[in-house]
Amino acid sequence: MADRRRAAARPRRDRGLGWEGREFEVTVGPVAHGGHCVARHEGRVVFVRHSLPGERVLVRVTEDRHPGFCRADAVEVLEASPARVERPCPYSGPGRCGGCDWQHVDPAEQRRLKAAVVREQLGRLAGLDDVAVVVEELPGGPLRWRLRARFAVDRTGAPGLRRHRSHDVVVLDDCPITVEPAAQAVLSRSWPGAGAVDVSVDSAGAVTTSRLDRSGRPTSSRVVRPGGELPEEPVTRAERRAGGRDWEVEGTGFWQVHPAAADALVEAVAGFAAVRPGESVLDLYAGAGLFGGALAPTVGETGRVVCVESDPAACATADANLADLPHAEVWQGDVDAEGLRELLEELGTPPDVVVLDPPRAGAGQAVSRLLAGTGARAVVYVACDPAALARDVAAFADAGYRLAAVRGFDAFPMTAHVECVALLVPSGA
Ligand SMILES: C[S@@+](CC[C@H](N)C(=O)[O-])C[C@H]1O[C@@H](n2cnc3c(N)ncnc32)[C@H](O)[C@@H]1O
Repeated sequence: MADRRRAAARPRRDRGLGWEGREFEVTVGPVAHGGHCVARHEGRVVFVRHSLPGERVLVRVTEDRHPGFCRADAVEVLEASPARVERPCPYSGPGRCGGCDWQHVDPAEQRRLKAAVVREQLGRLAGLDDVAVVVEELPGGPLRWRLRARFAVDRTGAPGLRRHRSHDVVVLDDCPITVEPAAQAVLSRSWPGAGAVDVSVDSAGAVTTSRLDRSGRPTSSRVVRPGGELPEEPVTRAERRAGGRDWEVEGTGFWQVHPAAADALVEAVAGFAAVRPGESVLDLYAGAGLFGGALAPTVGETGRVVCVESDPAACATADANLADLPHAEVWQGDVDAEGLRELLEELGTPPDVVVLDPPRAGAGQAVSRLLAGTGARAVVYVACDPAALARDVAAFADAGYRLAAVRGFDAFPMTAHVECVALLVPSGA
């Protein structure tokens, strides 16, 4: 009883100070992870979207659930940054579609902001000061690059995207960052009863749409090939080209969303890995086998490449993709502490090079430590979240590896997302 009273008396951590809806002026400070900048007001941190460092703006608080900080939109710009531009997308802006973060920012400045975020995350979470990071532009411009997307569907069946940090669907008739055939395949019609629709366009122009129910389970898929004819038996395989090879991927299975990203990442991974004939390579979280397949020709038949992937469909496509490389194997399994220990035992000899490309949450401390324990001469880490990268770099550092280099790629223009490729080497190297 006494315990219950004490618990009830504790301040709730999800309580703000009731600022929601309040408007005030702030001078905007540095960019932060997540597509906003940091400002301060009456001693509190305010995360301001739709702003830029150095601007003077009027903000409206959109969310106040924490005593230490609140979230706000810049609703009026009083003193604009020279990097501010007219938003090319008519659906973006405060209170509107939440799909993009930086529509109001010159693309070169977007890349500088992303580099600052990577640097800041490595500083704060991995204790590394002033790491040199450049976020490189990919060819194709800031619009019409997205080859894969998930659109939400509202209760009436109308498709769109969600408002930032909301379940509300903003109904759209176009999405200017998505390639036109994908945007039109979803946004030009109604999807009664669906919860969301995944869409992807492959390098032959085939458009795969996959309807998901309200709990996110795919219920049906279809492919429309150029010319509009449907195959007799709908197949959802998509063709991709990267690193000088052709790849087959499940239609809405994992593949980089930017058409130039897979090539750029293969080039960066191969540069950092610098594999030699006869070496052994572990490609973890391998998807359709992109990195393992790109490195296998160089290690040659005296070497060995083992790709590890948990998804059976991705493993099947990886098997097909690597069929001409007998020294490249695909192993289905989970990369977690237990799975990795078993895998390393079964392999017998430790890898010379490890490539890992985990999902957004990162590999985690246990996996990072085990990989460091292999003594691999190079670990090449591909990351879509700089915070997860920084946490894992810290775990590698505790286990005797140092960050030797990092490259950033603007594989998601107009959004706050950034792809990084990092090289970790034994501290003494
Ligand atoms: C970011 S994707 C990378 C795919 C591939 N490297 C590429 O660039 O195309 C991450 C992949 O890891 C797989 N995956 C997620 N969790 C995993 C786990 N615990 N063990 C093994 N694979 C996992 C996913 O199915 C997905 O294919």
